[in-house]
Amino acid sequence: MSTLIVYYSLTGHVKNLVKKIEDNFDFDTLEIKTKSDFQYKGPLKFIVGGFQSLNGYCPAIQDTNVNFNNYSKFIFITPIWAGGYAPAFNSFLTKYDFANKEIILITSSGASNDSAIEKFKQKLPMSKITNSFSIHDKKNEEIDLVIESLKNSYGMF
Ligand SMILES: Cc1cc2nc3c(=O)[nH]c(=O)nc-3n(C[C@H](O)[C@H](O)[C@H](O)COP(=O)(O)O)c2cc1C
Repeated sequence: MSTLIVYYSLTGHVKNLVKKIEDNFDFDTLEIKTKSDFQYKGPLKFIVGGFQSLNGYCPAIQDTNVNFNNYSKFIFITPIWAGGYAPAFNSFLTKYDFANKEIILITSSGASNDSAIEKFKQKLPMSKITNSFSIHDKKNEEIDLVIESLKNSYGMF
């Protein structure tokens, strides 16, 4: 059984991280896509998006035909919005059940990322969180460290 990366990316940083992981591993990927585009720009992007995240908003997301039972491990990657996971991930984790699944959590932030992993874990109380990483999107060396650590945990040297 294989590993599935599930990610959401609004402005491309997480997508870039996923591409780098794909260059090194034979993992499948699923991008969470909202049914409507997030249309806010500039300061409103942060105000509306932050408000949505803080209030547990669940935007409608596109359906997937991925069968999660085909995977034994998952890597969930989200940008941080207002100190938590992005609302699209809230929708995904509300819609699908990952109880007893092995999951690695990764967050990507612009600046601070203190509490986001904890909030992510709280949304997945029945899952087995095997590792977690917090990446700053302007620090490429942190991406390299994640890839090295994943290689170690997958027995690749
Ligand atoms: C609505 C919104 C809220 C954000 N809130 C935070 C935050 O609280 N802390 C932080 O460090 N970065 C914050 N960011 C920055 C993103 O987490 C960061 O740039 C991330 O790498 C973006 O990933 P993406 O380009 O894949 O969407 C926020 C970005 C957006 C759009």
